[in-house]
Amino acid sequence: MLIGGGVGNAVLFSIGKACLENNNKVLYFAGYKKLSDVFKRALIERASNAVVWACEEGLIETSRDQDKSFHGNIVDAIVSYQQGRLGINLNVIDKIITIGSDKMMKAVNEARKTILKPYLKSGHIAISSVNSPMQCMMKEICAQCVQQHINAKTGERSFVYSCSNQDQDMGCVDFDSLSERLKQNSLQEKLTAKWIDHVQRY
Ligand code: FES
Repeated sequence: MLIGGGVGNAVLFSIGKACLENNNKVLYFAGYKKLSDVFKRALIERASNAVVWACEEGLIETSRDQDKSFHGNIVDAIVSYQQGRLGINLNVIDKIITIGSDKMMKAVNEARKTILKPYLKSGHIAISSVNSPMQCMMKEICAQCVQQHINAKTGERSFVYSCSNQDQDMGCVDFDSLSERLKQNSLQEKLTAKWIDHVQRY
């Protein structure tokens, strides 16, 4: 099961395609805030056996019989899917890969441990592609990308250089720590957004 939020979907095209080429079945949840955020939908279709399109602004039109559309956020789409309103059970899922905002990935992880727990295989693998702030990208040099992990069983803390390994065990990632660290760039991001908005007017 692939779960992509917004631009995070761009990373899942190749992963879905590789999964299909290796004889896996791919159920793809693609989530967006606005209808206009959807991009490269043909690539998502080519990277999956079935897609559930979820959008908080409205229903995304589907172009294949097996695909579904959901008006709401991506976690509610997964829950609805499980509850039979959209289709089949999730208990055949061996591996979940999610890429999106820290908040979306945290919500998926929480749902996995609570509302979706009775429906998922107990031994399934869950991976988040962690979007830590990065600087040198040279694997263990500047430590901008450091991500805290907390072992769910022992409470032990450890740290991972995300530029060395972005795909991390979802159950261990401390998403609150990730959220705090991502805020360090919020001023530059706001200024950049304003600058782009300004130059696009001319
Ligand atoms: S970004 Fe510098 S060590 Fe990872």
